[in-house]
Amino acid sequence: MAERLLLRHRDLPGLGELPGYQAHEGFEGLRKAVMTMTPAQVIDLVKASGLRGRGGAGFPTGVKWSFLSPGVFPRYVVANADESEPGTFKDRELMEHNPFQFLEGVAICAYAAQANLAYVYCRGEFWDLAHRLEENLAEMGRAGFLGARLLGTDYDLDIRVHLGAGAYICGEETALLESLEGRLGQPRLRPPFPAAKGLYGKPTVVNNVETLANLPLILTRGAEWYRGFGTEKSPGTKIFSLSGHVARPGNYELPLGTPFRELIFTYGGGTSSGLKVKAIMPAGASSSILPGTDEVLDTPMDYESVAAAGSALGSASVIVMDESVDLGWVLKKTSEFFNHESCGKCTPCREGTYWMLHAIERLEHNRRSVGDVALLRSVAAGMQGKCLCALGEFSVVPVVTGIDRFQADFRPDGRDEP
Ligand SMILES: Cc1cc2nc3c(=O)[nH]c(=O)nc-3n(C[C@H](O)[C@H](O)[C@H](O)COP(=O)(O)O)c2cc1C
Ligand code: SF4
Repeated sequence: MAERLLLRHRDLPGLGELPGYQAHEGFEGLRKAVMTMTPAQVIDLVKASGLRGRGGAGFPTGVKWSFLSPGVFPRYVVANADESEPGTFKDRELMEHNPFQFLEGVAICAYAAQANLAYVYCRGEFWDLAHRLEENLAEMGRAGFLGARLLGTDYDLDIRVHLGAGAYICGEETALLESLEGRLGQPRLRPPFPAAKGLYGKPTVVNNVETLANLPLILTRGAEWYRGFGTEKSPGTKIFSLSGHVARPGNYELPLGTPFRELIFTYGGGTSSGLKVKAIMPAGASSSILPGTDEVLDTPMDYESVAAAGSALGSASVIVMDESVDLGWVLKKTSEFFNHESCGKCTPCREGTYWMLHAIERLEHNRRSVGDVALLRSVAAGMQGKCLCALGEFSVVPVVTGIDRFQADFRPDGRDEP
């Protein structure tokens, strides 16, 4: 197992407490940033590290920060702790067990963005965790790492925790901002992007919890050190949330570029049943589904290689399915989820997710008739590229790739045929 940069609490007992955290480079990154660097230098360092957003899209973090509208203030930073993708449970572990590394990351990001106020937006079910984060923030304030003139500099920062109300769509950054402003959580039309017009119409950085938790060590140990992990285009380590038919599900922090085979067999212990891997969803319910072929199992898990294999790394919630699984059942589950979570703002997704689920149920009822598969395909095609936000697109990809790549599961079963 490579060195853990994020799940360090597993190797360093006491890291979750402020003294324990301080004993292991805690707040040295923030100290270095605010005492010896300008915000622009912090942005350049993060750009040089090659860190990419861990919330799903893999967008380069420093580049995103450099898009903030120049000269417009106040600015805000929002940590996206909505973590609602089925199969993703990494941000929760980070916040529960290594909270100060995450919160220090929020503070470093805020300094780079020249923001004096940052929010941590937690999914509604994290109410207990949100309460603990508030206690962690109070401790940071008492120790001088937050508040007015932090660490004796002329920089002021406040971080507040906000609880959502349990909607998957509120993980989408513009719906999140609507929700944070007290409105119904529905996505905004983009552009403008949050870096230009975000929270309260002001320049805003939205970053995922895991992205932010990388910052303290990048600041203390440097960009070159960070680039020593992972691949050239996807540097660093990544937390893979492994679930499904594996003997040892859980979070595994590994260098980006580690093959699926190593995650599933070396760390996950292979399938719990001993059956072959039939399918892999690399990005939770929002995945293009990959077949469990040798070629796929040997694919390195980095942003480019998983895309080239016909899927996306996303938030790296790797769901493994063995040969006992019927893809028709899987598509029903993903379609139920997206039909339930569609916010209803745009017609292709509001109607499409409903009809897609309806077509899948009809498929089951009619013993997988060829006509029903064609109907499902046509509903999916009617949505692709036409939805206001990525949720609509997410709902389509498992369906289309499930039908195309696992055709045997969608052949008429002939039970009713004469
Ligand atoms: C439907 C939907 C749900 C999302 N859920 C999350 C989430 O729970 N957490 C998250 O960090 N990003 C989520 N995202 C991605 C965010 O919109 C955004 O890209 C991300 O927070 C940016 O942070 P990053 O650059 O650090 O990855 C979601 C996107 C969509 C379309
Ligand atoms: S694609 Fe779906 S979730 Fe996104 S805005 Fe349209 S209805 Fe809402």
